[in-house]
This record gives sequence, structure tokens and C-alpha cells, in this order.
Amino acid sequence: MEQSEEITLSDRFTAPLLAWYQEHRRILPWRDEPTPYRVWISEIMLQQTRVEAVKPYYERFIQEIPDIRALACVSEERLMKLWEGLGYYSRARNLRAAAIKIEREFGGELPKTKRQLMELSGIGAYTAGAIASIAYGQPVAAVDGNVLRVVSRLAAYGGDIRKERTKKLVAAALEKIYPLKHCGDFTQSLMELGAVICLPKDQPKCGACPVSSHCLALQRNAVDEYPYQTEKKPRKIEKRTVFLLRCGEKIAVRKRKKSGLLAEMWELPNIEGHLPAVQAEAYLKDLGIQTMMLIPEAPAKHIFTHIEWRMQAYRVECGSEAPEFFWADKKAFAERIALPSAFRYWSL
Ligand code: ADE
Repeated sequence: MEQSEEITLSDRFTAPLLAWYQEHRRILPWRDEPTPYRVWISEIMLQQTRVEAVKPYYERFIQEIPDIRALACVSEERLMKLWEGLGYYSRARNLRAAAIKIEREFGGELPKTKRQLMELSGIGAYTAGAIASIAYGQPVAAVDGNVLRVVSRLAAYGGDIRKERTKKLVAAALEKIYPLKHCGDFTQSLMELGAVICLPKDQPKCGACPVSSHCLALQRNAVDEYPYQTEKKPRKIEKRTVFLLRCGEKIAVRKRKKSGLLAEMWELPNIEGHLPAVQAEAYLKDLGIQTMMLIPEAPAKHIFTHIEWRMQAYRVECGSEAPEFFWADKKAFAERIALPSAFRYWSL
């Protein structure tokens, strides 16, 4: 599609959008009291995770770690336990690293400028914009996928929304029209419109849209042509064999390596490929594990951003606790072993 150098937005849609937001916004726990800390935590959780999935995690996190100082002091193990099942665990590690830096270098308070916010681990242009506008009331845009879709349609802008340049153009266009008394609400109203009305693909509810009369894509009867984006690469499919090794009341787990997918997370023992039962048993024997019983489970599939695991699991009763694993009982799972969702398809 054609790409212009600039995106032009009329400021006439800001008032009806804000009015709609006041009346129709969803009640969400992070909207009650938008302190910088709460906005930060919620926006990090909401990256790549649905609102409904985030809600209970957010409430529990804020209750247990109510401020930056508490976050700087929390143990890695406790942090992972609070994040367990939410995915993209480096988000949580970055939160803690940033909290430590805020304590050391910013007097314990989240900095106010976008530039300083972006010096913190895990805070990019989007999160910095969300904090600056929602918590500090500044006219700084927070451009996520929803906002890119809304603006592409309003302005009938056909640039590729995967490109950094498009994100910058969208931010610049919005920052020219930010209503200075309502910066936080304007940021959230754009996100909200994208989340509940200006839906992807052929699902937009233009009939219920408070700014439909300002939408160039709708005027041109071309809403489904926006936003434009280049095709995603298909995910790489990986076959894995997963072992649910039980010895008495304990289950074998181990730590993953320090980098790459699910870095440093706990996992169930697993190897590449789909091993037939006989080979699985031979593999375990090589590890010094005597199998008393080995039962295949139904196949399971887990989707990551760029990889898809197709898993064949075996439930195995072991004769002894092989030393290369940590053998975790119920208490250990409840208190300190955070097991990513990829390994939670089976009852343990
Ligand atoms: N998604 C990202 N940020 C959000 C917010 N503040 N409210 C609702 N959904 C969001």
C-alpha cells in the first residue's frame, strides 16, 4: 500500500471519543487508582496478554508487592510464582531490575519523562507513553496494536503497522491532538475503542462507534483494508517428548538454560522429537531411571510467539530419584516451583 510521510488526524474526534469513554469504559482494577506504579505493572502485564487473563494476576501482584520498594526486594522465586502461567517471564525479571534501578537512581519514584522511563528495563516507547500519559497526565502517545488499528482506519493510512516508522508516525499524529486536560483518558479511550469497537479484520462494530463520522476508512467503505501489515512468518513446529516422572509423591523437574525460550524457568524433563514408548524407556534407562510403568498421554500442543511445541508426554513411575533432577513434592509446587503453562497440560 502507499505510504505517506505524515499522518493527519483531525482533532474533532477527541471530544466524542472522550465522552464515549467516560460512559462506556470497562471497570478494570488498574483504572481505579492510576498511580505510576499501578499503571506500570498493569501495562507490562497487558503486553501480549488478554485483559481477562491479567485481572487476577494484577490484583494478587499489587496486594503482595504494593510498591516499588517491595518489588526491588522480592525474591526471584516469589516473583516467578506470582507470574506463573502469565508467560513471557522476562517481563517480570525486567520489572524487578527496573525497580532496583529506580530505588538507586531515581529516589524510589518512577521518572516522569518518556526518555528517562525508557532507560528502565522492559520499558519501551509504548509503556513509557502509557505511564507518562495515564499516570502523569502528559500528552505522550502509547501506540499498541489497538491504537495502530484505530488510527490506520481513522486516517485511512496504509503504511505497514509492523514497521517502527509507522508507530512513530502514529505517535506524532496523536501527539498533535492530545487534549491536554485529559491525556490519560485519551490514551485509554483509544485503546478501549480498539479493544471493544474497532475490532480486527471483519469484526469492527462501526454502527456503535462514537467517531465513525470522522473515519476516513469508513467513508471510503474500505474499513477491512486497514490496518495494512506484511504477512507474519509461520511458526516453527517442534516435536518434543515430555516426561512426567513420579517417584512416590514427588515429580521430577529441572531448570532450563540461562538464555532462549523460557530461560531459567523450571520444566518437566523433555527432549526433542517424538520418541515411541520403547525408545522413551531406553532414554530413561540411560539416565539411570528404572521405569516401573510408562503410560503415554494424549498429545498436547503449546503455542509460543515464534514456535509451536507438539508434545507427546509419558507418565512414568520411577524406581528411584535420579540425581540430575529436582524431585518436587506438592508443597514445593505450591510454594516455590513456578511451572510455565507449556508444562501444565497434565495433572501432576
Ligand atoms: N491494554 C493495554 N493497556 C490497557 C489498558 N490500560 N486498559 C485496557 N486494556 C489495555
